[in-house]
Amino acid sequence: MVAEVRAGVSVLGGSSAGGSAAGGEPGSGSRRGHDDDNAALWRVLRTRRDHRHFLPTPVPDETVARLLDAFAVAPSVGLSQPWHVTVVRDRAVRESVHAGFRQVRAAEADRFTGERRTLYDSLRLEGILQAPVGLVVSHLPPGGPVLGTTSMPAASEYSVVSAITLLWLAATAEGLGMGWVSLVDPAHLSGAVPLPPGARPMAYLCLGHPALDLNEPLLQSVGWGRRRPLAVDWM
Ligand SMILES: Cc1cc2nc3c(=O)[nH]c(=O)nc-3n(C[C@H](O)[C@H](O)[C@H](O)COP(=O)(O)O)c2cc1C
Repeated sequence: MVAEVRAGVSVLGGSSAGGSAAGGEPGSGSRRGHDDDNAALWRVLRTRRDHRHFLPTPVPDETVARLLDAFAVAPSVGLSQPWHVTVVRDRAVRESVHAGFRQVRAAEADRFTGERRTLYDSLRLEGILQAPVGLVVSHLPPGGPVLGTTSMPAASEYSVVSAITLLWLAATAEGLGMGWVSLVDPAHLSGAVPLPPGARPMAYLCLGHPALDLNEPLLQSVGWGRRRPLAVDWM
């Protein structure tokens, strides 16, 4: 039986007075330990990049499996874990995904004109064939109603994105690079990669050893855009 009250906080609806929910795990260490964790976390947050250039250095299955543990600790609406992951190493499958990418890229290029189009044409937007590992992350909701999705059904897809973000950070901490490719038609991905019934691909991720040291977004380095300060209202 799970403890119902911990540090004064009832886990069965509402807080009881006097407790602190922010106390951390019992015995989780000194303030100093927290400072070190905080600094390490922020180093990972700041150095995470979207990578599109990869070295041919292999990434062993054990490493991929360790990184995929990020899904085991990820938040998900109603604890529904509405995801499925396909690890793609096969060159022929990656070539098929790449062919789909090229089609979408050509269509997207037509949305830009003038200097913007010239710059778009020069952009590197994927590392599908270079990265030794591809990951197709699909939305695969469980059958039946899911707690927390009544007014916001998209929370189910948000859960998949949350998990991908954790994976991105885990890869960064491991010294690996990850790149998210959204320029692929989900229908094309479903055709290129066998998926379980009901799975809808949400991302193709390239994973490998990064070939470039990026200390800012590549799109910023090449002049496509700049990070903006957060717009925030305090009330
Ligand atoms: C949902 C999502 C889809 C993305 N799709 C692509 C893509 O298809 N190709 C690409 O080059 N980058 C893609 N990116 C990466 C963004 O361009 C990148 O995150 C952004 O420029 C900021 O750079 P940074 O991640 O290195 O900080 C995607 C990012 C997200 C979150």
